[in-house]
Amino acid sequence: MKDSFKKYIPFKQIDIKNREWPDKVIDKAPVWCSVDLRDGNQSLVDPMNLQEKLEFFKLLCDMGFKEIEIGFPSASETEYEICRKLIEGGYIPDDVTIQVLVQAREHLIRRTFEAIEGAKNVIVHFYNSTSVLQRKVVFKKDKEGIIDIAVQGAKLIKELTEKYEGDTNIRFEYSPESFSGTEMDFAVDICHKVMQELGSTKESPVILNLPNTVEMCTPNTYADQIEYFIKHLPDREAAIISIHPHNDRGTGVAAAELALLAGAERVEGTLFGNGERTGNLDIVTVGLNMFTQGVDPKLDFSNLPKYKEIYERCTNMKVHERTPYIGELVFTAFSGSHQDAINKGMEYMKATDSDYWEIPYLPIDPADVGRQYEPIIRINSQSGKGGAAFVMANNYGYKMPKQMHPEFSELVQKKCDELGRELIPSELMKIFEDCYINIKRKYEIVGHPTVKELGEDGNVVEIQGILRTNGDEATDIKISGIGNGPIDAFFHALESVGICDYKFVDYSQHAISTGSDSKAVSYIQLMTPRGGSIFGVGISGNIYRSSIFGVLNAINRAEQEN
Ligand code: KIV
Ligand code: ZN
Repeated sequence: MKDSFKKYIPFKQIDIKNREWPDKVIDKAPVWCSVDLRDGNQSLVDPMNLQEKLEFFKLLCDMGFKEIEIGFPSASETEYEICRKLIEGGYIPDDVTIQVLVQAREHLIRRTFEAIEGAKNVIVHFYNSTSVLQRKVVFKKDKEGIIDIAVQGAKLIKELTEKYEGDTNIRFEYSPESFSGTEMDFAVDICHKVMQELGSTKESPVILNLPNTVEMCTPNTYADQIEYFIKHLPDREAAIISIHPHNDRGTGVAAAELALLAGAERVEGTLFGNGERTGNLDIVTVGLNMFTQGVDPKLDFSNLPKYKEIYERCTNMKVHERTPYIGELVFTAFSGSHQDAINKGMEYMKATDSDYWEIPYLPIDPADVGRQYEPIIRINSQSGKGGAAFVMANNYGYKMPKQMHPEFSELVQKKCDELGRELIPSELMKIFEDCYINIKRKYEIVGHPTVKELGEDGNVVEIQGILRTNGDEATDIKISGIGNGPIDAFFHALESVGICDYKFVDYSQHAISTGSDSKAVSYIQLMTPRGGSIFGVGISGNIYRSSIFGVLNAINRAEQEN
């Protein structure tokens, strides 16, 4: 076991001089081809049935795919029937080209041509394996033998196309399967011979699809292979260079991106990376990576949750929680410092009315992929002081002053520890209501206190009301006070009945919409007789009363603790 790594052969690097791809950038979308219904489907424990394939096909069309590999019609009766159903049922939009895969073998090619009858636009995609390893252990043929398979396939396809009666517009695609395990000069040679046999021209180019069938090297080496291939291919203009990455090393997306830098013009892959073994290239990630660089991916990703639902239902596969852009947790910040930074980013965007998305830790606006801000922050016992306050502000409109964050956060952390789990926004609201609104009241003002502005500029205020203690009517006592604002006046009113142990520290106030009308919310900070700080929250349709209730609620909270 200790030395087992020694049995693996390191990948041979490509001898390429003056590589150019590292200096390039991706500035436009490639032609996308979905292989969900073929490579994706063939790798499922239970391949999709007809209904599921039809639903998936419609989804791909709605997303904007113009080239869709629908299957391998010569491989089985089911695959053949699905192809016929799509064509005869009129499911294929006029601007969508279906692609059918076939091995470069005579009887399979003939059957494939039967399957596509009546379709408007078709890509006949044929392949044979070309890698050193496949030649050695599977086909046991030399290079000439392998070229012969490809050229004979091309010859028959060309012949059947020329004889083809009907209006079908047929294009060709050839894949030297396991391209990345093939000597580059041999890959160029076999592809060029196929081009010659097909009579490819600039006006009628063949698609040369260069699969990373098994990902065996770092993405830069795949990019080197693509650049080398393109630079050495004669009649380069008569070919469209396509890539077909898989993900065996977990770098399918990176390999695709570097291959695009190296000159690939077309990309084959699947939604969420379904496909053989570790999967095909995930087109959603590559497309959205472009999107977040300001490049139009020419695919619609605006409702990822819906695509995920269809994908999971039809394939019986699950999208992992950490999958870029769509994973359950990718818009959730657990760490306090992340929550704080996101909060500040949102405030910055609002304050500057910026045209650009500049929020730390969120590389994309969740709304652009049909997701919401709401679950961005979940609160757990590790959350920072600002996190819970952010959820309250963002979800419910309560903008607690910064000085109040530690107090509220402590209440939240206590609840998290008690339940042993994270909290969702509605649970935070419940804590807020229990601790600040629906509290036990030692003191209450019965009925409405009256607030009168005295003096010409109204900065002297008189407050009158009835104070009740411990809910006992017999204690009702009239209080009144004058001050240079409602809080000052209320403090004087309380002092007049001997409640004078609390000192005012600070207050803040904002309006909150409560459906049809708007109310004022006041946050009052007091110093308790023991020298600690405590907050009270008052809510009322009247701004003066909201301050009064805030003061009283702060005192009641403090008394509750005594
Ligand atoms: O991965 C692969 O090489 C393929 C080919 C058939 C294109 O799926
Ligand atoms: Zn494949």
